[in-house]
Amino acid sequence: MHITWYHVLVCLYVVQRSLASTDGQMAIPSKKPGFNSIFQTDIDKEVQREVNTLKSQVDFFSDTLENVLKENKDLKTDISNLKSNFDDATDQLQKLENTLAEARQNISQQNLNYADLLKQKKQLEQILASTNERLTNRTNQLTSNVTRVTAEIDNLANTTAYSINQVIEGNNVLKTSFKELSRNQTLINAQIGKRRGVSDEDRSAFLVRLSADRSFWGRGIVINFDKVEFNIDMSYSPLTGIFTAPESGLFTFSATFEASKADISAAIVKNNEQISSMYGADNDRNKIVATTSTYVHLNEGDEVWMEWTGSGSTMVKGGIYSQFTGHFVMSD
Ligand SMILES: *[C@@H]1O[C@H](CO)[C@@H](O)[C@H](O)[C@H]1NC(C)=O
Ligand SMILES: *[C@@H]1O[C@H](CO)[C@@H](O)[C@H](O)[C@H]1NC(C)=O
Ligand SMILES: *[C@@H]1O[C@H](CO)[C@@H](O)[C@H](O)[C@H]1NC(C)=O
Ligand SMILES: *[C@@H]1O[C@H](CO)[C@@H](O)[C@H](O)[C@H]1NC(C)=O
Ligand SMILES: *[C@@H]1O[C@H](CO)[C@@H](O)[C@H](O)[C@H]1NC(C)=O
Repeated sequence: MHITWYHVLVCLYVVQRSLASTDGQMAIPSKKPGFNSIFQTDIDKEVQREVNTLKSQVDFFSDTLENVLKENKDLKTDISNLKSNFDDATDQLQKLENTLAEARQNISQQNLNYADLLKQKKQLEQILASTNERLTNRTNQLTSNVTRVTAEIDNLANTTAYSINQVIEGNNVLKTSFKELSRNQTLINAQIGKRRGVSDEDRSAFLVRLSADRSFWGRGIVINFDKVEFNIDMSYSPLTGIFTAPESGLFTFSATFEASKADISAAIVKNNEQISSMYGADNDRNKIVATTSTYVHLNEGDEVWMEWTGSGSTMVKGGIYSQFTGHFVMSD
């Protein structure tokens, strides 16, 4: 078909009319009277085709627009989501910044505290050092004092021991002199008696006892009977317990002891030599009695005494239960 300008004009008119319709439906223009009917039909067909094309285009654009609109909506949602995420992230960032600031402050506070602690530590170290020094000084002083005091104590102990020994030695010397004096006294008495001419009534005779109960223990103890009943020529010394012969001749001695629940063991001794012994065994009896007596020749100055010979400890009764006697019998 050959398209003329007329065709084109008609076509444009129809399109304009159809686009202007309110309901969007393409209105087919009514046939104008006077037009050639075949021609008219061709135009209608052509227009219809154009209209259909346009309609499909409009549909396509409409769909596209709808899609675009829809996509736009999704995009909006996405953007809104993104925005909310962004807000959250911003919040979190702010919080982190706050925490960081707090941490910074804490660290600076801690630094301050640390500096303070360091200062205190230094002070404590100084105090410690000075205390150590003072302690060392005191310890040194104490050590030297202890050394000094120990030396003094040693010295004192030595001096004391020395003094005690001196006293004991002195005491022994004194004892010996005392014994000697006592013996000399007896001998002097005898000399005086001899010069005067000794009568029988003036010759040696003594009876001595223990003034009270006494405990004896250990061998070799000289028993000094301290209660003198009589001692005619004073030849017996109650202080030393020793009888000294004022002249040569025959003498007799006897002794008795009583004890309870312990052995009695004693002897009469002449110049360190036992001349008569006594023994009383403790046989679970309350009373143990032992006695001895003897005769002996003495030279002038010979000494006689009673000596304890038991090793244990024995309580001996005093008074009339324990006594020592002796007397001159006859001259040579
Ligand atoms: C800062 O110190 C306070 C008190 O000690 C503590 O509660 C807080 O957790 C600290 N903050 C940080 C971020 O360390
Ligand atoms: C400790 O002793 C030394 C020397 O003996 C002295 O120089 C120092 O001052 C003393 N220190 C004290 C704390 O007494
Ligand atoms: C050591 O002895 C001296 C002198 O007696 C005294 O002054 C000082 O206090 C003593 N020192 C100690 C630590 O006892
Ligand atoms: C103890 O004293 C005696 C007598 O004075 C003396 O000879 C001796 O050296 C002293 N010993 C000590 C350890 O001082
Ligand atoms: C005892 O007598 C003897 C001899 O006469 C004499 O040497 C001695 O010094 C006297 N002893 C005492 C302590 O008087």
